[in-house]
Amino acid sequence: MSHFHSVRVREVCKETPDCVSIAFDIPAALKDSFTYAPGQHVIMRKALDGEDIRRTYSFCSAPSGGDFRIAVRKVEGGAFSTFANETLKAGDMLELSEPLGEFTLSIDPKRAKHHVGFAVGSGITPIIAMIREVLACEPQSYFHLYYGNRDAEHTIFAEDLAELKNCYMDRFSYQFFLTRQAVDIAFFNGRITGEKAAQLHASTFAHLDVAGYYLCGPMSMIADVRQNLRDAGEPADKIHSELFYADDGDASARKSKPEAIAKSKIKVISDGREIEVDYRDEHGSVLDAVLKAGIDVSFACKGGVCATCRAKVIDGQVDMGLNYGLEPDEIADGFVLTCQSVPTTKSVTISFDE
Ligand SMILES: Cc1cc2nc3c(=O)[nH]c(=O)nc-3n(C[C@H](O)[C@H](O)[C@H](O)COP(=O)(O)OP(=O)(O)OC[C@H]3O[C@@H](n4cnc5c(N)ncnc54)[C@H](O)[C@@H]3O)c2cc1C
Ligand code: FES
Repeated sequence: MSHFHSVRVREVCKETPDCVSIAFDIPAALKDSFTYAPGQHVIMRKALDGEDIRRTYSFCSAPSGGDFRIAVRKVEGGAFSTFANETLKAGDMLELSEPLGEFTLSIDPKRAKHHVGFAVGSGITPIIAMIREVLACEPQSYFHLYYGNRDAEHTIFAEDLAELKNCYMDRFSYQFFLTRQAVDIAFFNGRITGEKAAQLHASTFAHLDVAGYYLCGPMSMIADVRQNLRDAGEPADKIHSELFYADDGDASARKSKPEAIAKSKIKVISDGREIEVDYRDEHGSVLDAVLKAGIDVSFACKGGVCATCRAKVIDGQVDMGLNYGLEPDEIADGFVLTCQSVPTTKSVTISFDE
C-alpha cells in the first residue's frame, strides 16, 4: 500500500507555456521517508470533481541538492496536469506518496564513466535529476544528453541545462532535436530516431566507456532507440527506460483482450492480511475488484504503465492483457499488473506484499 503524506507546496514555477515545476516543503520528520534516488517519482493523490485521482510525477531535482521538485506538463483535457498548471499555488497542500520506481541511476563517486540520456518532452524530468546528480556527485563522470521537443519555447529546463553546461563545461554535453523549428545542424532537425541513435553510437558512444543509457519519452522513441542500441551491440541491462503514458497506437505491449472467468474468488494478501474478494465480470480487472472491496492497495495510472499496482500470483491464474510496466524476469517470477489482469481460474491467490 502507498503511504500518502500531506505536503505543502513551496513554489509553483512556470517553466514553459505548458509546464510548471512544483517544489515541496518536506517537513523534517518526513525527510527520511522522502529520501529518493535520481529518476524516482512520487504518486500525487487529489480529489478532483469527486474522483480520487492518482498520477505519477518524477523528481526533476537532484537528491543531493536537498530539493524536492517535480515538473508537470499540461496534457490536453488532462485532469491533474490542468489543475497543476492552472490552479495550484504556493501554500496549497497535496497528498504525496513516498518516492518509488526502478528507473534510477546509482551514484558511485569513484566512477569515471559516461552516462547517456535520450529524453523527449516531459521525459526530461527524471533525466535532468540524473544529470544534476552525476555532475554533482560523480566528479570524474560525464553525461551526454539528446533531447527532443517541438520548438525552443516548449523545451522544458532549457535554461537549467545551459547553466549546467556553464558549470560543468567539460563533463556535460547536450543537443536539442526540434521538430517544428529549424536548427543549424541538419542531423538535429526532426525527431530522435533509432537510426540517429545508431549513428551517434558509431561516432561517439562506441569509443567511450558508457555505464548506461537512459531513455524517457514516447513508446516509439524508446523502442526504436533501444533496438538500435541493442543492434549496435549494447547489452540489454545497460539500457534503462521509463514510459509516462501509452496511447492506443502503442501496440507493442498489447496482447489480445484478456478473457476473464465470469466469477472467481480472489484471496488478496496485503499488509500481512488475507482477505477474500468476489470477482465478477463487471469489475473489469483484479485491481478494481480489490478496490471495490475496500482494500487499500497501491495504484496510479491504471493504464499498464507505472507498475504501481504490481502483485504476485501465488496460486491460480490471471490473464494480463497489456503490459508496459513489468520486465520479462518479473513476469517469469509470477508478477502481474493487477489493473490489466483478470482471473481465469475459479480461485486465485494474489499478494501485494511481495
Ligand atoms: C512513472 C511515471 C512518471 C511520470 N512523470 C511525469 C513527469 O515527471 N511529468 C509529467 O508531466 N508527466 C509525468 N507522467 C505522466 C503523468 O503521470 C500523467 O499521466 C499526466 O500528467 C496526465 O495526467 P492528467 O490527469 O492530466 O491526464 P488524464 O486525465 O489522465 O488524461 C487526459 C487525456 O490525456 C491522455 N493522456 C494522459 N497522459 C498523457 C500524456 N502523458 N501525454 C499525452 N496524452 C496523455 C489520456 O489518454 C486522456 O485522453 C509520468 C507517468 C509515469 C507513469
Ligand atoms: S496502476 Fe499503473 S500499471 Fe497498474
